[in-house]
Amino acid sequence: MTEARPTDGIPLLSFAPEGVAVVFGAGGGIGAALVQTLRGSQHFSQVLAFGRRTTPAIELLDESTLERAAELASDTGTLRLVIDATGFLHDERQMPEKSWRQLDANSLARCFALNATGPALIMKHVLPRLPREGKSVFATLSARVGSIGDNRLGGWYGYRASKAALNQIVRTAAVELARRSPSALCIALHPGTVATALSAPFEARGLQVHRPEEAARHLIGVIDTLGVDANGGFFDWRGLPVPW
Ligand SMILES: NC(=O)c1ccc[n+]([C@@H]2O[C@H](COP(=O)([O-])OP(=O)(O)OC[C@H]3O[C@@H](n4cnc5c(N)ncnc54)[C@H](OP(=O)(O)O)[C@@H]3O)[C@@H](O)[C@H]2O)c1
Repeated sequence: MTEARPTDGIPLLSFAPEGVAVVFGAGGGIGAALVQTLRGSQHFSQVLAFGRRTTPAIELLDESTLERAAELASDTGTLRLVIDATGFLHDERQMPEKSWRQLDANSLARCFALNATGPALIMKHVLPRLPREGKSVFATLSARVGSIGDNRLGGWYGYRASKAALNQIVRTAAVELARRSPSALCIALHPGTVATALSAPFEARGLQVHRPEEAARHLIGVIDTLGVDANGGFFDWRGLPVPW
């Protein structure tokens, strides 16, 4: 019996064959699963993985590393799919704020640098390298908690606000991208609640928690389904629009 490939059921036929796929943040829970799933699909001629521990390595706080990765990827072939799976919620230095009492300038600046500025610089170097013709996609992993319209619980000021900023950058870049590459998409995606190091310390009360491999399949399925009218949009793992 042949083993099921991780993307069985996701044809990826919306993309021309022989293109290059790239994942930024390939060492993360969702990023690693995306790389594995895309490689398993065998639809792309190459699936390049960039993270802090790859060669070359990327560092969101160092633009030159993002430029070098984008350059290397486009030198490899036609960039059809680029997914930014980087992101930051907590580490040993800071946890998400529960109250305005915990607002701290350095922690806020760090959230913005990692969740908004870093991905913006990835876009700066990737979007001009997308092909002028045929479907291509730049997707960045945002989060539903970055939705202003959907914010009922409060808390997590820095993460929420930096993801909202990311969403605005996606939308703005999408307008510019459409002028250059009319069939290209620049989108923000909410992966759902996924069991990774990022979500580990938090109780997902009443939420469905997905394994990273499931999340990767969901996200790739959504990307495969979206047409050019989705450019500049914010979608969840089911393909449903998320309010800004
Ligand atoms: N997990 C969830 O439930 C959930 C829900 C909503 C949205 N998201 C979003 O999904 C994305 C992926 O999250 P995840 O759950 O896979 O988290 P994760 O396992 O913690 O992965 C985070 C990724 O960000 C990268 N990263 C962090 N700081 C970086 C820096 N300074 N320079 C370069 N890369 C850096 C990490 O790189 P290294 O591998 O090198 O550490 C890693 O690849 C994030 O944008 C997150 O906000 C996740």
